Amino acid sequence: MADARESRSLADLVDAANGPLSDPMRNRHVGTGSRRFELYHFALSVCSHKVRTVLFEKGAPFVSHDIHILPPAMENYHPDYVRLRMQGGKGREMVTGYTGRSSTTTEGFDPCVVPTLVDHDADRVIVDSRMIGEHIDREWQGGTELCPARLKREIDREINIVDGTPHVAVLYGAHPDGDFRPAMLRKNMPGAHDYKIMKLMEGRSLAVGHPHLTAAYDAKIRKEAAAKVYVASPDLMRSATDEIIGIVGDLEERLADERAWVCGDVFTMADIHWAVSLFRLQWLGMGFAWTGRHALNDIERPRVAAYARRLFTRPSFQEAVIHWPGNPPSEFVQEFYQAEQASTANAVSQQRKEGEHGRDIKEENLTAAVLETMRGARTPRAQKVLNAFTRHLHAFLEEVEPSEQEWEWAIEFLTKTGHLSTGGRQEFVLLSDVMGATARVDLINHRFPDGATENSVLGPFFVEERPTFPNGADISGGVSGDPMVMTGRVLDIDGAPVGGARVDIWHSDDDGAYDIMMKDRDGLALRGLFRTDAEGRFWFTSIMPTSYPIPDDGTVGQLLKAANRSVMRPGHVHVRVEAPGFQRLTTMVFIEGDPHLDSDPVFGVKDSLVRPFVKTTDLRLPDGQKAPSPCYAVEYDFVLTKTT
Ligand code: BEZ
Ligand code: FE
Repeated sequence: MADARESRSLADLVDAANGPLSDPMRNRHVGTGSRRFELYHFALSVCSHKVRTVLFEKGAPFVSHDIHILPPAMENYHPDYVRLRMQGGKGREMVTGYTGRSSTTTEGFDPCVVPTLVDHDADRVIVDSRMIGEHIDREWQGGTELCPARLKREIDREINIVDGTPHVAVLYGAHPDGDFRPAMLRKNMPGAHDYKIMKLMEGRSLAVGHPHLTAAYDAKIRKEAAAKVYVASPDLMRSATDEIIGIVGDLEERLADERAWVCGDVFTMADIHWAVSLFRLQWLGMGFAWTGRHALNDIERPRVAAYARRLFTRPSFQEAVIHWPGNPPSEFVQEFYQAEQASTANAVSQQRKEGEHGRDIKEENLTAAVLETMRGARTPRAQKVLNAFTRHLHAFLEEVEPSEQEWEWAIEFLTKTGHLSTGGRQEFVLLSDVMGATARVDLINHRFPDGATENSVLGPFFVEERPTFPNGADISGGVSGDPMVMTGRVLDIDGAPVGGARVDIWHSDDDGAYDIMMKDRDGLALRGLFRTDAEGRFWFTSIMPTSYPIPDDGTVGQLLKAANRSVMRPGHVHVRVEAPGFQRLTTMVFIEGDPHLDSDPVFGVKDSLVRPFVKTTDLRLPDGQKAPSPCYAVEYDFVLTKTT
């Protein structure tokens, strides 16, 4: 099948990938100036550590998208992220198996991991830490030259060694003779591969119809299935640990001439890779590979120990790894997180107690200070919501720059809206309606597939205690008006009838009034609950509804007047359909030709919901009975979405 999305521009792919990422704590501009580099990475990932250290070492600013790659979030499996990342993997062999290493030179291209760099100036996506690091070093004029040509061979050799170290194996798997990993891993890693595979299947199901994407998910699913087998193998886990101890032993030999850095007396890209590797090993509890005095290794490697210390205290590494927000210490690296080693603003903010934001509040740091107070939010969801609310509120105030009188007025407006919200009159809901918020929440929560009937807003006039009617009943309850007959079917997405579905109907009269608003009426009318027959059909008689104004005598009316907006809802019949095994559909059928279809104050109209209500004579109902003549006939087939 052709995949139209493959030809989208890089800017579109970036926009799509950024869409689901909205948390300002994790999406920010690091440094000042150029927004050339946009990096997708994760606080805790070793490959991300390498790229961040390169960026800080070079002094290159970047737009940071710190995405969660651990369960349950697994944002790196989102099809929009995978699609963007795949731009950087074009022409490369996809990952086929699992070796416990993250080297992309030997393992193939993994479409669902971090880091991914977008270089907007070069209009390119670059994937994987080694290639990204080299690209930034080549392209960014400034900071340390990390890959001097004269040392290329030595640097490549060292990076190959780091890349070949089975870090991932010892992260996910326990040593057969005892799990020496940090407590947080001992607790969280069992079952991780099953969870990853489940989330990948979810991502894959969203990508159906895009063969290049489903192929990517298939490759990654194979890799994770192989990883699960690998880390469960005592032999493989034992040899991964032995291999690491051997790699550290070899490094000790190469450091024998007391050189400061691994390739000589200048700090290079190879040192960045070693810094990240050794820190990860220490974080994992494998510092015994150089400290010795451990059941698995009793040989000390003092030169590696001193080298590691030099690397861990380098400012770029401190900033990019140790004090990067959201990169928590394990019990094995606590000493590097002590206050006296804090060297950056990040570090300072990391040490503040929850809820504290510092005392030097200025216009330019107020939003950050408020965000800082949200750091202690009890759940990631609470944090996301509070952050977004803070960020948008302050952006609004910065844009509008209200006078004090205006701000007082705004607070009074909301207070009055609250006071007007009682019982049947819900002014706050109406405010949400006219601001499109109700429609937005409705759209977010009812993303039905193509071909299914679209949802729309419920409105305030649905009544739980409505009467039940047989098909064909007249539900007008004696309210006068032009007769209307509605017929239709309830179908599944394949067109098969859904028998026994509950079909709820409610609508206004030809004055725009609902029964519960009619002062001289006692009892319900113009509403009822039907059930579809075996062929999925329902039908009833009533009177024609018409357009009507939403309540405009409160604060919402004031707002609509100020904006010179219409208060008129176009004429419609509300319908709610429920059937076991299907998602509930709440929608409306609008009268074609209504003059208010294009200016619905609550944003409920969709083209697919507009139908002709045709004046007809001698109409026969599905059961052969005669319909009132003349009547306005409307037909609509409601297509339901299966529950997942
Ligand atoms: C309605 O269609 O019944 C409605 C929806 C939103 C606000 C007011 C009325
Ligand atoms: Fe309505």
